Amino acid sequence: MTRQMTMVGFLQAQNCTNLAMSWRHRDSRTDFMSADFYQEIGRTLERGKFHLGFFDDRLALPDRYGGDHAHAIEHGIRVVKLDPVAVLMAMGMATTHLGLGATCSTTYYEPFHVARQFATVDHLSGGRAAWNVVTSLNEGEAWNMGRDEVAEHDSRYDQADEFMQVVTGHWKSWDADALVVNKQTGLFAHPDKVHRLNHVGENFRSRGPFTVPRTPQGHPVIIQAGQSGRGRRFAGRWAEIIFAGGGPLAVQQRGYKAVKDEIAAAGRNPDQVHLCTLVHTVCAATKSEAEDKMAYIETLPLEIDALSLLSEALNFDFATKAMDEPFTDAEMASIGGIQTMRDRVVQASGKQNPTTRDFITITGRGRPHGAIVGGPKDVADKLEELFVNRGCDGFVVAATHVPGSYADFVDHVVPELQRRGLYHQDYKGKTLRENLGLAVPE
Ligand SMILES: Cc1cc2nc3c(=O)[nH]c(=O)nc-3n(C[C@H](O)[C@H](O)[C@H](O)COP(=O)(O)O)c2cc1C
Repeated sequence: MTRQMTMVGFLQAQNCTNLAMSWRHRDSRTDFMSADFYQEIGRTLERGKFHLGFFDDRLALPDRYGGDHAHAIEHGIRVVKLDPVAVLMAMGMATTHLGLGATCSTTYYEPFHVARQFATVDHLSGGRAAWNVVTSLNEGEAWNMGRDEVAEHDSRYDQADEFMQVVTGHWKSWDADALVVNKQTGLFAHPDKVHRLNHVGENFRSRGPFTVPRTPQGHPVIIQAGQSGRGRRFAGRWAEIIFAGGGPLAVQQRGYKAVKDEIAAAGRNPDQVHLCTLVHTVCAATKSEAEDKMAYIETLPLEIDALSLLSEALNFDFATKAMDEPFTDAEMASIGGIQTMRDRVVQASGKQNPTTRDFITITGRGRPHGAIVGGPKDVADKLEELFVNRGCDGFVVAATHVPGSYADFVDHVVPELQRRGLYHQDYKGKTLRENLGLAVPE
């Protein structure tokens, strides 16, 4: 069968998209605390046959910059953050085929709780649930969740490995044929087909039995987006969909190969894991119309958006540095957030000690950095190039405003990709696994 793209909508249960400026966009809906807002997004993605819509999450609002939240509140920098699983269910009730993904942290919850939440979504949605596994990197999250500091990077992944053992263990602890519910015989379920997990480990203890029977997908689909070496090893072991951060083709090809090698090294089939890369698209019926849209979007970001988001992503207070003051060696070493982002700035600037300005311009934080702008042909050409040359297996489509960005993609780009045979015409099955061609876990 010919290889076709996997399409994922990058969603936020918040007041803006991943671009803080998006709430100021003239076409953005502002009722982001209503169910209808998310339901319209869901219906739009489903109209475009998206495999999955997934909500990111953080357990804090941005207050690393200057150690205060006032700037974030004033400018609406990702300050509203609703519970993504509750929002996911609202979206799920308005759709029938769209996969439903949400992010949940392995650092701040109990595995039993997370296993039960996502198993419940899988049942209620008829087998469409997916869980984006993150380890959480901000101090603000630690402080909201009863910790003094963020645990060290690699140890978070070690804990996440154990978390996954518990979660997947519970998910498999009801045999697929355990449930009977026979009113005539009075047998509800086979006692010998429901097992205690009896997990006792370094970080977690959970006895079981689990309280949710085997789900329609066997278990929810696992998503992961670790970019570091340790993160990729974790993804290689567990993930069925992997998110990558985008970038030029050569960078993506290297990342793609590294991730697929990790999957093979973990003894799994690399073809059973979809690697999707982040893209911002600004599209319209014609190239010049799209360029006009982009010109307007370029007027929306503020410098404070970038400073605030960089402070969060790198877990470093950018208010302590002047715009053109180089970071010291100690400051560079103290960056504990997304280290691959720091390393990219060192590489692209050619400086061991880059400045705040270098961080802003190279990362493009808060801006639709590297957005693909154009008519149907322009955008489809670019996506085709990344896909066909094995930079990725599909895309995580981010929005400059909602729901209009997704509608533009669905109306202008999807038909062109379908015409080229690069993207499915319709859903193949009912469950997310069926639509992704993923095997049901044993
Ligand atoms: C498309 C995409 C979505 C992500 N969503 C989240 C998220 O919702 N919450 C979160 O804490 N991290 C999120 N991340 C960050 C990753 O989970 C990961 O922490 C980060 O890439 C750093 O990787 P590392 O921990 O392996 O260094 C996302 C990354 C990408 C590329």
